[in-house]
Amino acid sequence: MRMHASEFAPVAWKEPDARPAAVVAGLGTCLPRTEISNASLAEHLDTSDGWIRTRTGIASRRRAAPDASMTDLACAAAANALRSAGCTTVDALVLATTTPDRPCPAAAPEVAHRVGQGAIPAFDVSAVCSGFIYATATAAGLISAGIADSVLVTAAETYSRIVDPADRSTAVLFGDGAGAVVLRRGTAGEPGALLAFDLGSDGGGRDVIHVPGERERPEGGRWFTMAGRKVYLRAIEQMTSSAQRVMKDCAWSPETVGAFVAHQANARIIDAVADRLQVPSAAAVCEIARVGNTAAASIPLALADATEGGRLKPGDRTVLTAFGGGLTWGSAALTWPRLTPVRSEI
Ligand code: UT7
Repeated sequence: MRMHASEFAPVAWKEPDARPAAVVAGLGTCLPRTEISNASLAEHLDTSDGWIRTRTGIASRRRAAPDASMTDLACAAAANALRSAGCTTVDALVLATTTPDRPCPAAAPEVAHRVGQGAIPAFDVSAVCSGFIYATATAAGLISAGIADSVLVTAAETYSRIVDPADRSTAVLFGDGAGAVVLRRGTAGEPGALLAFDLGSDGGGRDVIHVPGERERPEGGRWFTMAGRKVYLRAIEQMTSSAQRVMKDCAWSPETVGAFVAHQANARIIDAVADRLQVPSAAAVCEIARVGNTAAASIPLALADATEGGRLKPGDRTVLTAFGGGLTWGSAALTWPRLTPVRSEI
């Protein structure tokens, strides 16, 4: 795993395919049933279906029912991932979210309890839209350190609870949803093996995407805010360079990449990064149209759509990349496994 340029020489394996790796074994998702169209938002906001589609690629997004929590979505996605992997128990659970139902405690122990995992270690990771990559890297680290043989990585968000419904610059972008993967101990030669990670952050950009804290709230200002244009440019730059680093670590040339799955924030950003990476245009996965930006949940949701749609095939060289608040960014390279995603709605 690369955090930054290392001063330590990597260990060379005689048989690279035999080296230990965390392997993706199952994929689950859960979406709220309620779909909010662009037209329905345009009834009370100064926006239009045309503006939203052209600028973002979004046609509709899901909104959790008032009695459905982030934790409910997380539990359903986690249970579905276990079913997809054909297993009933894991050794640890890592949950990525920036929209917890409560500030304290973390939601992961409740998710572990509700999906029947008993006393396993369980904790939340908060890296905003990079959360799934950060949580996956953390889980892979638990496996490579010998702490766990299998980890349930879950990403769940309810941005509808933190976005100002009267702010057209954010209300049209975000949606609710959850996705999860099961990772197990395996080898680098197996389909599903996670082969490289790249993680980074820049706290100097902490105000670019944020929800004000209790002590810094201006009158009534409790909502999520994002400096869209600044984020747009930075997201393209950081996702491109981060994805390039994992491709270099794997010695993958761009034309050999079968699937490029970026955080689904904006179709134009996905196209721009794919273009800069020079991966085949058919490799770029864009599944934002029906779900919008689901923050940490966007990559596993897109992976499930692309697998079901046949665009992501077993053995495909797959590059994941994300950028979000913090600022944070991260990428992962893996070969895609043979699996059937399990999905549900609540
Ligand atoms: O998930 C975490 C990471 N997030 C991202 O990566 C999101 C990155 N940013 C973006 O995707 C884009 O910047 C946005 C979709 C947020 C905005 O698109 P843009 O092409 O960058 O538009 P803009 O912010 O430059 O705004 C252009 C115009 C402005 O009006 P003026 O100043 O030109 O008169 C905005 O006020 O569009 C206006 N505008 C809207 N108009 C209609 C902003 N939101 C809307 C809206 N409907 N919903």
